[in-house]
Amino acid sequence: MKGFEAGSLQLLAEALETLDGGFSGLPDRAPELTAGELVSLRAGLTAAAERLRDNYPYHHPLYVGQMLKPPHPVARAAYQLAMWLNPNNHALDGGRASSAMEKEAVAGIARMFGWETHLGHLCGGGTMANFEALWVGRESNPGKAIAASAQAHYTHSRLASVLGVPLREVAVDERGRMDSAALERTLEDGEVGTVVATLGTTGAGAVDPLAEILELRRRFDFRLHVDTAYGGYFALAGNLEPEAAAAFDRIAEADSVVVDPHKHGLQPYGCGCVLFRDPGVGRYYRHESPYTYFSSPDLHLGEISLECSRAGASAVALWTTMTVLPLERGGTFARSLESCREGALALYDALLADSRFAPLFPPELDIVVWALRAPTASEASARAERLFAAAAQHDLHLALASFPREMCAPAAPVESWDSDRLTCLRACVMKPEHREWMPEILSRLDVAGDRLAGEPPEIS
Ligand SMILES: Cc1ncc(COP(=O)(O)O)c(C=O)c1O
Repeated sequence: MKGFEAGSLQLLAEALETLDGGFSGLPDRAPELTAGELVSLRAGLTAAAERLRDNYPYHHPLYVGQMLKPPHPVARAAYQLAMWLNPNNHALDGGRASSAMEKEAVAGIARMFGWETHLGHLCGGGTMANFEALWVGRESNPGKAIAASAQAHYTHSRLASVLGVPLREVAVDERGRMDSAALERTLEDGEVGTVVATLGTTGAGAVDPLAEILELRRRFDFRLHVDTAYGGYFALAGNLEPEAAAAFDRIAEADSVVVDPHKHGLQPYGCGCVLFRDPGVGRYYRHESPYTYFSSPDLHLGEISLECSRAGASAVALWTTMTVLPLERGGTFARSLESCREGALALYDALLADSRFAPLFPPELDIVVWALRAPTASEASARAERLFAAAAQHDLHLALASFPREMCAPAAPVESWDSDRLTCLRACVMKPEHREWMPEILSRLDVAGDRLAGEPPEIS
């Protein structure tokens, strides 16, 4: 196969035999498909494959657009292996082994942040995980507001409104990090119950100054929630700048943390994780189920999560990935994150040296954002949109993102600000292969940029 890894299909077949052996005491149930069924399944699968061609090539290193990362082959195979059982991690009744695997995997993530004890579980993704953390925040500090930065993911304002809690937006500095002086002013009336610190914002990968926020917690009484859905695994990377590294090093002092294995953790979608430092918050989840929880006195994950039915396969995929690629500093997984960051730094350096582009600031993690130089802000935005489209014509897939003038002005991309916001190009350099592919990415960007300027395109 040309673009997709397929060797793991053989390993999946072998693992399936091993799984099958665990149920050999049962009477045979003639599970093979009939010839007629095979014909119709083949037709269905071929039709699905054809439909799926209508996608951006998310798996390819020339896709450097949105925050999408292909699952590791072992995660894909383990997820599919679990599909022959389709366990449900709501209760031990529906997913005995996969619940145990989830507890082990989640404990491994908690240890990555420095917690030997915790309460936590997997869930559908970053939104659901943040929802639970903000809900526990509301239950712990009833009637109080949530404070999050203007660059925090929009999910926080939506969730605040779902929870019926006011949201206070805190200003950011020119690199998109929460301005701790602005946070201090926000805290002064004592009405904030939960502060959200984002370590790795969605737009620009900015890391909020956790040490300064922790300092404020000495004087003000609030719960500290760290949303590190995208950035969390960078806790293992050895090549962050000291300020960002210092923030990741102190995550253990937060009250709750969200990290998404389906972002940098090499997992298929449907895998978020929420963790609480104090296992005692489990009291907010307490409920009775007339249907489940009878099979064992051990903890059923549904007793500590808001969702009921949940894919046990997500836990199987995560556990298997973490077995093959342990969360260790200096290990293969950590090095792959370091490569992503090296790729992002190479992109930033090349953009800085190119007079057409104005990168807003050096990447703190592996997201790079840059404006196109132009006389006016509206022309710079229009050029970014045109380059985005021109690059796609060269099979280079970038993303667009809008940033406020305050975050763009220091890079001086325009002479006249006829708009308060600028549409910029954005690259999520989230595949370790991006580092090796950067010359090719830059060459295609160069050709697309030349085309935009009306010059004849060079063939590289
Ligand atoms: C920092 C942050 N928080 C929350 C979310 C929402 O996560 P999800 O899309 O998994 O619901 C994202 C998604 O990009 C994110 O980057």
